[in-house]
Amino acid sequence: MRAVAVFPADKAMRVVDHPEPRLERDTDVMLAMLDVGLCGTDREIARFEYGSPPPGAAYLVIGHESLGRVVETGRAVTRLKPGDLVVTMVRRPCPHPECKACAVGRQDFCFTGDFTERGIKGRHGFMTERVVDDQRFMHVVPAHLRDVGVLVEPLTIAEKALIQLYDMRARLPWTAAGAPAGADHGQKAVVLGAGPVGLLGAMALLVRGFETWVYSLEPEGGPKARWAESVGARYLSAASTPLPEMERRIGNIDLVYEATGAAGVAFRALQAIGVNGVFVFTGVPGRKGPIELDADPIMRDLVLQNQLVFGTVNAGPDAFEAAVGDLARFHARWPEPLRALITGRHAPEACPDLLARPASGIKTVVTFAGSR
Ligand code: BGC
Ligand code: ZN
Repeated sequence: MRAVAVFPADKAMRVVDHPEPRLERDTDVMLAMLDVGLCGTDREIARFEYGSPPPGAAYLVIGHESLGRVVETGRAVTRLKPGDLVVTMVRRPCPHPECKACAVGRQDFCFTGDFTERGIKGRHGFMTERVVDDQRFMHVVPAHLRDVGVLVEPLTIAEKALIQLYDMRARLPWTAAGAPAGADHGQKAVVLGAGPVGLLGAMALLVRGFETWVYSLEPEGGPKARWAESVGARYLSAASTPLPEMERRIGNIDLVYEATGAAGVAFRALQAIGVNGVFVFTGVPGRKGPIELDADPIMRDLVLQNQLVFGTVNAGPDAFEAAVGDLARFHARWPEPLRALITGRHAPEACPDLLARPASGIKTVVTFAGSR
């Protein structure tokens, strides 16, 4: 069957004829792949800066943002049936029994770094026609979300961040669990960056009642600004509104959700969080060299204003379930803006080229639908 693969040793990427997987255990499920999303991690892999084939293999089948349809189930499979739409999780546990995170199925918090990731690190990914995995790594997506289900995995980044935010906010009695419903109303959030992770994050904040601003490079009045306004967020351009001016316009910022992957922008924006504010990093920066930063005011505010800063990667089953639920909410509330996040669908053969060119649009998807 066809698969898109990277050969790190030869510095090549191409469509290969990959052996079709089979059900091996009773809890295995076979999927026909429908859509596979491309992201910054795939671009890093395509530049041969990241990514590793399974032990002994010459190539890695890429792809980790997926949507598939169940075609076959093992005898002990209870959670899924043929025809179901499914998103499969990316990370698999490390082999060390002493890793407390992996031992409880929370490899997204793995201590050892020896986890594997489908399509990224030591395991073939989803950019192929058929995929087999254990049912416990799969999450069912309602049929009416067929067109946008591939956005579940990138949305899990925001969901994991928000789950942690709520845990941490238990420190503030007036917003903690048990506080009246709608306790987020009046909370102000800024999303840094208008890529898929940022824009999906903005929707997740809006459905929770946050007053939400998107702050990015693109000009005010442009397509990103219009998209933000179409979902009820406000847009500020970093090109015309410097950070101090952004702070002045917004007031006390309760949350900054960073989705730029640019250290210079992100660390300077630490200054923007307000009293009791939280800053969450989600972007993985490339190596751009040192930045200059006036750290005293940042440190002063962190202490004198009870601020929190944390980073988050990958996602657990709770975030996948939350992402499926939120995607349904987004679809009900903003069907057109949600669909507009997917700006291109291409055949697998186009993938090496798509990853070699500079990114354009918002989310690019490779589709296997209708290929057999
Ligand atoms: C994926 C994560 C993964 C991370 C690092 C991201 O693009 O969404 O699941 O953990 O890359 O490999
Ligand atoms: Zn581990």
